[in-house]
Amino acid sequence: MHIDVITVQPDLLESPLSHSIMKRAQEKGLLTVKLHNLRQWALNKYGQVDDYQFGGGAGMVMMCEPLVNAIEHLTKDGPYDEIIYMTPDGPRFEQKTANTLSLQERLLIICGHYKGIDERIREHYVTREISIGDYVLSGGELAAAVVIDAIGRLLPGVLGDETSALTDSFQDGLLAPPVYTRPAEFKGWKVPEVLLSGNPKIIDEWRYNQAVERTRTRRPDLLDE
Ligand code: ADE
Repeated sequence: MHIDVITVQPDLLESPLSHSIMKRAQEKGLLTVKLHNLRQWALNKYGQVDDYQFGGGAGMVMMCEPLVNAIEHLTKDGPYDEIIYMTPDGPRFEQKTANTLSLQERLLIICGHYKGIDERIREHYVTREISIGDYVLSGGELAAAVVIDAIGRLLPGVLGDETSALTDSFQDGLLAPPVYTRPAEFKGWKVPEVLLSGNPKIIDEWRYNQAVERTRTRRPDLLDE
């Protein structure tokens, strides 16, 4: 998969993409992410990419022209399956969306800043809007890092244990069950006996029941769905 990102703050994205699993995905050639500074397509030597909003009011708006020039330039390398705009007023990002996007080949992510981007870009270019939650970040970069991480770890071959993404929370609509590791007893706190039984059938059953119980108490809204 290839992901292009249009941003005015590429540094904010560099670090989360160059560690751990995202680093491994890129080293294995399963994921390429390219950060593009929007200022390359600025209108003047001051690097202008934003302007006052029509109708008045505080806050700048990211202008059409630099964004269109960036999108048109990047599209020359091939069409995008999705052009995504990170914004707090988009639909909330969920595991289902990560699963869907992980099946695509080429994505373009636009990170907003200030008051956001000119609405006409959303109307004419953006195919999907994503919010990572009901709060406002200073820009779309950290949100884009979240989305890229969630998608990247789903690409086949990225995680060492191929099954481990399948047993993540949310993959089956439930939270994940509790997990334990050695020692079997610590400060008198014991690991549930069943996990030491060596019987895969009763262990699976226990895990499923725990997942249901955990979801019922912590996130009952997931069960309603
Ligand atoms: N940009 C600013 N806040 C955001 C959010 N919550 N989700 C996605 N993009 C954003």
